Amino acid sequence: MNFKIRIAEEKDALACHDIYGAYVDGLNVTFTIENPSVEKYREKIVNTKKKYPFYVAQDESGKILGYCCGEPLRPHDAYKWNVEWTIVLAPDAPRRSGIATALYERFSATLRKQNFQYIYAVIVDTNEASLGFHKSLGFEEVGHFHNAGIKKGHWLGIVWMNKFIGTDGADAKEPVWFEDFNKA
Ligand SMILES: CC(C)(COP(=O)(O)OP(=O)(O)OC[C@H]1O[C@@H](n2cnc3c(N)ncnc32)[C@H](O)[C@@H]1OP(=O)(O)O)[C@@H](O)C(=O)NCCC(=O)NCCS
Repeated sequence: MNFKIRIAEEKDALACHDIYGAYVDGLNVTFTIENPSVEKYREKIVNTKKKYPFYVAQDESGKILGYCCGEPLRPHDAYKWNVEWTIVLAPDAPRRSGIATALYERFSATLRKQNFQYIYAVIVDTNEASLGFHKSLGFEEVGHFHNAGIKKGHWLGIVWMNKFIGTDGADAKEPVWFEDFNKA
C-alpha cells in the first residue's frame, strides 16, 4: 500500500479524534474513558508541535491511516530529554504493512535531531500488538504496573518500555523544540 508520512495539521483533528475514539470503549489500548472533542484534538496538534513532532500517515486518497505524537514524560526539568509517544492506526488501516514502523522511523529521526535521548511507550499490558510492535523496534520493558487503573469495573495494568535513541553522554545538548527545529 502506498502512503506518505507528513506533519499533522489542524485539519487532521477530526481524523485523529475518530481514530483514537475507536479504541476508547475497549480495555486494551487506552486508559481514556471519554474521547475528547475534535476541538481538543485540534488544540493538541497545535500545542504538541510547539515542542514535539506530530505526524500522520496518509494514503493516496488523502485518508489518514494513523498518527503518532510526543509529549513530556514527566513535568520536572531533568526529564526533558525523554519523550513519551503515542502511536495509533485507524481500526481499518492494514496491519503488519509497515505503516507504524514508518511513522516510528520518521518520528525517531526527528527526535534525534532535536537532541532527545529516550523514547517511552506506556502500553496496556494486554495489548499484544503494541507490545510486539515496540519489541520489534528495540524497545525494552522497564516497568510493569499491574493495577494502574480501573476501567469499566476492570483493573488494567501497564507496561513501560523505552528505547535509547541518543548519541550523547550526560552532557547531552539541550533539546531543540519542534517549532524551532522545523524553522531551521
Ligand atoms: C500496534 C500498532 C501501532 C502496530 O501497527 P502496524 O502498522 O501493524 O505495525 P508494523 O506493520 O509496522 O509492524 C512491525 C512489527 O511489529 C510487530 N507486530 C505488529 N503487530 C503485531 C502483533 N499483532 N503481534 C505481535 N507483533 C506484532 C511485528 O514484529 C511486526 O513485524 P512483522 O509484521 O514483519 O512481523 C497497530 O496494531 C495499532 O495501531 N493498534 C491499535 C492502537 C494501539 O494499540 N496503539 C498502541 C497504543 S500503546
